[in-house]
Amino acid sequence: MTTTVRTRVAIIGAGPAGLMLSHLLAQAGIESVVIDQRTRDEIESTIRAGILEQGTVELLDTIGPASRARTVGHRHDGIELRFDGEGHRIDFAESVGRAVWLYPQHEVLKDLIAARLAAGQDLRFGVTADGVEDGDHPRVHARDADGVPVEIEADFVVGSDGSRSVARAAVAGSRNGSFREYPFAWFGILCEAPPSSEELIYSNSPDGFALVSQRSATVQRMYFQCDPDTDTAAFSEAQLWDELQKRVPGTTLREGPIFQRDVLRFRSFVANELRRGRVALVGDAAHTVPPTGAKGMNLAIADVRLLAAALRAFLLESDERLLDAYPDTASRRIWKAQHFSWWMTNMLHVTPDATDFDRRRQLGELRSVVESEHGRAYLAEAYCGWPLDA
Ligand code: PHB
Repeated sequence: MTTTVRTRVAIIGAGPAGLMLSHLLAQAGIESVVIDQRTRDEIESTIRAGILEQGTVELLDTIGPASRARTVGHRHDGIELRFDGEGHRIDFAESVGRAVWLYPQHEVLKDLIAARLAAGQDLRFGVTADGVEDGDHPRVHARDADGVPVEIEADFVVGSDGSRSVARAAVAGSRNGSFREYPFAWFGILCEAPPSSEELIYSNSPDGFALVSQRSATVQRMYFQCDPDTDTAAFSEAQLWDELQKRVPGTTLREGPIFQRDVLRFRSFVANELRRGRVALVGDAAHTVPPTGAKGMNLAIADVRLLAAALRAFLLESDERLLDAYPDTASRRIWKAQHFSWWMTNMLHVTPDATDFDRRRQLGELRSVVESEHGRAYLAEAYCGWPLDA
């Protein structure tokens, strides 16, 4: 027995992009169905990055009090860049009058899921998409948790289904794109300890990069640069603290039990095509950035904001112009974010084969940023996020 569902927009993937899109469409009176192969619990407990741009927080405000970004999250008015034995603060408030919020992505997801369910959203967990068929009435072929086929017939299909996107197959040309790999990765830990610093520290040291981030008053997130093939079990807790500590000279890290470890590989990717007919891609299904600078989720939210406006015009007024423009308009911001993420990555990490020249040039680059009002402003503007309407 196949279940057939009819809706205006079928959204594959209940990550930040898919859920925010369903909210923006609902605001315009456009009904949608959101499916995700994961359970609600898996979605709400997967640890991802934790920095929200100001524009992302403002868009989350539109879901009402369900967004706890401003109440449970914390506003950060700056970060520290540390190199050559000194710390340099980038003051966002002074440079660009903007801020970011430290609020973990899985908390954003809890808020979005609660708000969507309260609004009566058709949101289905444990439903796996197998394929997308384009046409005037595109279809998503899926299966529920018991293996029962589910067919979703829609006026438009959106792939917000991450880097292993199924929807990508329906957007010819999207499997190819511009791609880059990096010769390092991040070893990430979560530990039970108080914060070691009020603001995030991005540290370039002779031993490699480290990032001191946070999650809450009692849980901290930290990363250090490692080889992409590093085994998470290869370090004892004492060795992990040693690796972190030696890369953040000048700060005594507050240690505590490490209860999660993971290795994050670095890739940059932008699909050649973001839309074909009545199927479009957003977020990680369309592009990937390395984590330095925390642009991933913010970029997904920016895509969705554009696509929501385009779908409103298309579905309510049969005006296809914004939809036709979506790939180009989205690409402008995507490539600015690609550049920023690549730039932060290269400026802060030490490549395995770096020569004396490379190392000193890199310190020169860092100095040219922190010692210039314009350099600091460039970093602050990109970090807090370019205006969503631009
Ligand atoms: C994080 O807290 O996970 C985080 C923060 C800043 C980044 C990347 C990751 O640039």
